[in-house]
Amino acid sequence: MRDLLASLDGLRERLREIPPADERRLQDLHTEILGRKNGALTDILKVLPTLDAETRKTVGRAANALKREFEDAIAARERALAQAGQAVADVDPTMPGRDRWRGGLHVVTQVVDEICGIFRELGFTRAVGPEIETERNNFYALNFPHDHPALDSQDSFYVTDDLLLRTHTSPVQIRTMEAYRPPIRVVIPGQVYRRDPFDASHAPVFEQIEGLVVDEGISFVDLKATLSHFARRFFAADTAVRFHPSFFPFTEPSADMSVRCTVCGGAGCPTCKQSGWMEILGSGMVHPAVLENCGIDPERYTGFAFGMGPHRIAMLRYGIPDIRLLYESDVRFLSQFTGGER
Ligand code: DAH
Repeated sequence: MRDLLASLDGLRERLREIPPADERRLQDLHTEILGRKNGALTDILKVLPTLDAETRKTVGRAANALKREFEDAIAARERALAQAGQAVADVDPTMPGRDRWRGGLHVVTQVVDEICGIFRELGFTRAVGPEIETERNNFYALNFPHDHPALDSQDSFYVTDDLLLRTHTSPVQIRTMEAYRPPIRVVIPGQVYRRDPFDASHAPVFEQIEGLVVDEGISFVDLKATLSHFARRFFAADTAVRFHPSFFPFTEPSADMSVRCTVCGGAGCPTCKQSGWMEILGSGMVHPAVLENCGIDPERYTGFAFGMGPHRIAMLRYGIPDIRLLYESDVRFLSQFTGGER
């Protein structure tokens, strides 16, 4: 009789162990316990009449309790399964998942941040200036002659007679030198405006990054070393760099800097127009007249400056053939530059 009671307890244990939604195991246990032929409980109930009255009473009560418990459990679980089945029926598992859109920085913004970050490592501060400028800051203080074609309203957007949308970030050189004494080391990102056609290589609004260094003893060697370092940090450690003479009213001497084409490695391709080189910035030693216009003594101080276009640099780095792609805000294009997530 003790054996019988123990085996009933064992069955109760197993019933409790079955997780609520495991229909298969519940069915199996059902057969095992209450199966008509070899069910364990069925067998116990079968031997009941052969037991003495006392034992029959005890075991019979226990067996009936278990039978009820088991039937209740099965009923409860069947209800739970029916509900779950209903919930599953409401979901179409073949429906495509919803895209999770994640914002990202525009590729040009990323390039601006990366460039300013490289100069920050060299001790440059980030500065900004207004997009509406005086003719003086945009041109005259930068040593432009009064008859320079850029002063023509054909080429620039004038707001009033002597205010215009800045045509470059160089006027922030003037603002910086008038506000701070040397030593000066700044990079100045910002948007500039020109009356240019909107075509594959021009836009009427685009980004520039200006750089300015003024201190005692600054020479062309500092310019070359700083800008070469920048090119190797931004492109690749073994990037070849080339300087060639140029002209800007506010620098003397002036030089454009090119890097070996990063797309073809110098062999010649559409990105470098078959030349093997990509021109990435203009630069030069700050013209003494510009220092003087800002109240800085050119006998004591010298400096260098540079200007580059992040749109153009992004195009050269990634082989983007048309600048308009950078203005269209087409996420299918832009998501290529945000690590692939959308
Ligand atoms: N401001 C020039 C431009 O718009 C770019 C530039 C060239 C800036 C040489 C400089 C520089 O500071 O030294 O094309």
